[in-house]
Parts: sequence; structure tokens; C-alpha cells
Amino acid sequence: MGDFSVQPRTDNVEVSTWMVACNLDDLAPERPLGIRLAGTAICLVRAAGDVFAVHDECTHGAVPLSDGEVDGCTIECWLHGSRFDLRSGEALDLPATEPVRTFPVRVIGGVVSVDIG
Ligand code: FES
Repeated sequence: MGDFSVQPRTDNVEVSTWMVACNLDDLAPERPLGIRLAGTAICLVRAAGDVFAVHDECTHGAVPLSDGEVDGCTIECWLHGSRFDLRSGEALDLPATEPVRTFPVRVIGGVVSVDIG
């Protein structure tokens, strides 16, 4: 037997940050769903033939966007009415000026997963 040791690799190590969020059937069209994944508040929206995930917190007043209303690819904050683009997170109306964080979403076999990385 040779004398050897195994060193843990630290290069090119990819850590998956995809997490299962819900079943696609749990998402009614244009009805936001607020969930938490690894401590992160996520607002899931099924709209315009797609599924979107944004941080579930308005960038103006830190209230849940999942309590807002969806229209096409936008979600409107219920408190002061700023709308955010679900695709880019861009704030479309004052008083919010900062974009909301968006997260990649994939749907495989009816299961919705979000990359919270
Ligand atoms: S708290 Fe959302 S627009 Fe003011």
C-alpha cells in the first residue's frame, strides 16, 4: 500500500443553490404566493405563461409584495402602488426607485424550483 492522503478540492466546486419551492399546481394564475426558502422571503407568481420569483419585500417600505396585485408581468405593491417588473425587478412607478431582487426559476415535472444563490 502506498502512502497517500486525500485533499479536499476547493477549486471548481459548484454548490447548488436551487431549492424546491412548491408544485406548479399550488400557483394560481396571477395570485402571488409568499414563501420562505432558507430564510429568504420569496414571492412566487405564475403569470404570462411563466413563473417568476422576486424578493418578497417592496424596496420602498419593506412590506410583502406577495400581498400585492399582479397584472401581466408586473406586481403592484399594496401599500403605495409602486409596480415592479417581475422579469427584471425594475421599479416602474414611484415612490419605489430601487429594483426588487429577482431569482431564476425552473419548472420540471410540475415542480417549481428557485435558485436562491
Ligand atoms: S411600501 Fe411599497 S410602494 Fe411604498
